Amino acid sequence: MTFPIHRPRRLRRTEALRGLVRETRLSTSGLVYPMFACPGNKIRTEVSSMPGIFQQSPDQIVEECREVAGLGIPAVILFGLPEKKDETGSEAASPTGAVQRSIEAIRKAKLDLLVVTDVCLCEYTSHGHCGVIKDGEILNDPSIALLADAALSHARAGADIVAPSDMMDGRVAAIRRKLDENKFSDVAVLSYAAKYCSAFYGPFREAAQSTPQFGDRRSYQMDPANAREALREVALDLEEGADIIMVKPALPYLDIIARVRERFDVPVAAYNVSAEYSMVKAAARKGWIDEQRIVLEIMTSIQRAGASIVLTYHAKDVARWVK
Ligand code: PBG
Repeated sequence: MTFPIHRPRRLRRTEALRGLVRETRLSTSGLVYPMFACPGNKIRTEVSSMPGIFQQSPDQIVEECREVAGLGIPAVILFGLPEKKDETGSEAASPTGAVQRSIEAIRKAKLDLLVVTDVCLCEYTSHGHCGVIKDGEILNDPSIALLADAALSHARAGADIVAPSDMMDGRVAAIRRKLDENKFSDVAVLSYAAKYCSAFYGPFREAAQSTPQFGDRRSYQMDPANAREALREVALDLEEGADIIMVKPALPYLDIIARVRERFDVPVAAYNVSAEYSMVKAAARKGWIDEQRIVLEIMTSIQRAGASIVLTYHAKDVARWVK
């Protein structure tokens, strides 16, 4: 017996009823706001393909972090631009790098904010790849040693969580070991475990000046056609000691988020990446979409798929809108 006994519309009649039975409730507590730190002082340059997002020197990073904390957003993730790039991305681990300086400044300002750092080499290498290169090949094992050094420098500066995004094999274990050896066993690792080789990173590469100078990232980032492989990547990172795992990008990979959520009992993060943001911004500027409704629907969908943590350039707007 179904209709007229069962009438699903009964619970959709008013906002109070809809709120009562809502399965996914948006809040600010899982948001992480990405920021780009560059060397210097008083620098604040807007990224042309990402309206509202800036490359900023550490003094400016702190100012925006104050605003972010004031909006109730719990965390930021910092990306860094170097003074100069070289073959091995040596500035990635520099204690005076833009990221390290920014972390120290945020700590000094005593902001109520978790600091996550992106750990990678592509912003720091002259060739723009996420590892070191020999004879045109991206080498795995020498790269993970450098990534561990970068992660340690972030921990020393005061990072709460380090987030390797390079997709080299074994980097989570190398980073975990390095942190533990140096008495940073409380610094957590958020691994970009299932990171796809995606065209959705285009605008980010303008922001981080990290476009590969030859070839592409297909020999280390995942093939968009693969889902089962993502489960294997996540399992490996967890065995190596990851505390939180991430799927990236978010919207085109909701199936991956859902499968990872189903299979593993750890916090799952998703990265709503640069082109996901830019496309919304561009259409909104043309007046083709209702930006607020679109963004809140995207956030709800990512959380409904199973991500409790969402890295998004929309974080400040979302925080204002859900208040
Ligand atoms: C660095 C890194 C990238 C992103 C995060 N970390 C770019 C890439 O892999 O090319 C992309 C983030 C975004 O598009 O917003 N490895």
